[in-house]
Amino acid sequence: MRAPSVCPAIFAFDPDALYCSPRNEPMSLQMPLGQLMSDAEFERLIDPNPFAMGTSRQTHNVIADRLVVVKKIKDGYGGPNFPNYIEWFIWSSVSETDLADVFGRCFAISTTGRYLMMERLDDISTADVPLTPLLPDWVKDIKGLTVFGKNQQGVVKVRDYALVKIGDALAQAPRRRP
Ligand SMILES: Nc1ncnc2c1ncn2[C@@H]1O[C@H](COP(=O)(O)OP(=O)(O)OP(=O)(O)O)[C@@H](O)[C@H]1O
Ligand SMILES: [Mg+2]
Repeated sequence: MRAPSVCPAIFAFDPDALYCSPRNEPMSLQMPLGQLMSDAEFERLIDPNPFAMGTSRQTHNVIADRLVVVKKIKDGYGGPNFPNYIEWFIWSSVSETDLADVFGRCFAISTTGRYLMMERLDDISTADVPLTPLLPDWVKDIKGLTVFGKNQQGVVKVRDYALVKIGDALAQAPRRRP
């Protein structure tokens, strides 16, 4: 198994450094992967007004870093914070596979799951359709082009993958005795 990759710029996480990077690097490049933060830390980072809405979540800009967004479970959403947990789990699972370029990269989640930081994937247009990746059939709820977005390098990825059905994929894995 590969060792967990760590973003090169900063190894010890310091939330205050997010506001004033001495090298003016995007925050996402300063964060060790797999970062857990509190809800309060996320609140300090985001523009309080969301720029986009889904059914369970709203999406916010991060004030100090245009390369990432924060997906927040909406106030009054009836269910648990599963959508963010699921995207975090799926990202953690695919990030060391050849599916890594197909899924929006996640950088941090709050301990409650209410907040999830993902790379910014801007809306695409019909001209970008040839760039959309094939998605594994366990990704459900593909509502059309809105599930895809384009990052700063022009790579088109899926950005809403909270609804998955992985039973068949799990059952197909090779089996062994411990
Ligand atoms: N990584 C991202 N970068 C930029 N915008 C995003 C990103 N992820 C989501 N968005 C925007 O936020 C909106 C809501 O996010 P998302 O679709 O993930 O929430 P949801 O609650 O699962 O929505 P839905 O009800 O459509 O399933 C999206 O339609 C999109 O406009
Ligand atoms: Mg969704």
